[in-house]
Amino acid sequence: MKVLITGASSGIGREIARLLTDKYDEFVLVARNQARLDEIKKELLEKNNNLKIETVSTELTNRENCINLFNNHKDIDLLINNAGFGDYGEFYETSLEKDLSMIDTNVIAMHILTKLYVQEMVKRDSGHILNTASIAGFLPGPLMTTYYATKNYVVKLAEGIREELRRKKSKVKISILCPGPVKTNFEVEANVKFNFKGADSKIIAKYAVKHLNKFYVVPQFKIRFIRFISKFVSSKAQAKTVYKVQAKRKKGN
Ligand SMILES: NC(=O)c1ccc[n+]([C@@H]2O[C@H](COP(=O)([O-])OP(=O)(O)OC[C@H]3O[C@@H](n4cnc5c(N)ncnc54)[C@H](OP(=O)(O)O)[C@@H]3O)[C@@H](O)[C@H]2O)c1
Repeated sequence: MKVLITGASSGIGREIARLLTDKYDEFVLVARNQARLDEIKKELLEKNNNLKIETVSTELTNRENCINLFNNHKDIDLLINNAGFGDYGEFYETSLEKDLSMIDTNVIAMHILTKLYVQEMVKRDSGHILNTASIAGFLPGPLMTTYYATKNYVVKLAEGIREELRRKKSKVKISILCPGPVKTNFEVEANVKFNFKGADSKIIAKYAVKHLNKFYVVPQFKIRFIRFISKFVSSKAQAKTVYKVQAKRKKGN
């Protein structure tokens, strides 16, 4: 069984890779930082030297790179589209360039890989795709507006695909991983400071792997509760609440 994980060089993606060595014997680990990919490859091989592990250092904001990644690795049983990042600040103040790079990574790269692998998996009527969204995918996100919007896209894309696959009785599966704050490199990249303790990425990865058969994979009771309550609150009220939470996340507060 072969798994491809984007964003495998750190955080949630790296923890998921560590947990899948019992079930999968072939790995394609994708990110930009080759040195960190080499480290995780070495670690996994030390655990089990029968594993076949390929690392791919690539910039996923480049569309050609995404297409090449697919063309070079079509025979994937589980695709984990996990690479992504955020940015903190007022929409009118944050960098347009960083927004576009975020959209290219969180939305366009995820979309290209989902499209190409769904097509391939439907042809052979097998395979599973797990796209990393966030609790942010169910909410408007003042002070991290672009990030929340990208994750809303991840959620809505998967919800549509799931229904199409269900109607054609396809064996291909799609799931979305929707964590709340997690202690990873995310805070540094997003220039944000979580105002309550972020979850351990090991716990998030463990939950994700254990509940892969679900569509909405939402680790932690408090995050599932937030999602449940948000269904009964208007979008305007959600935005007001999220603003108050995010305002406390400014670095230096
Ligand atoms: N941490 C949180 O609080 C949290 C909560 C909910 C959802 N999430 C989501 O979880 C996913 C993983 O994030 P994380 O928290 O584990 O953060 P992380 O430790 O910063 O990991 C992000 C991963 O994405 C890769 N990546 C980023 N931009 C890339 C690009 N342009 N091309 C190729 N690879 C790229 C990074 O590798 P390189 O730098 O080596 O390229 C890294 O492996 C993201 O989609 C994030 O939005 C995070």
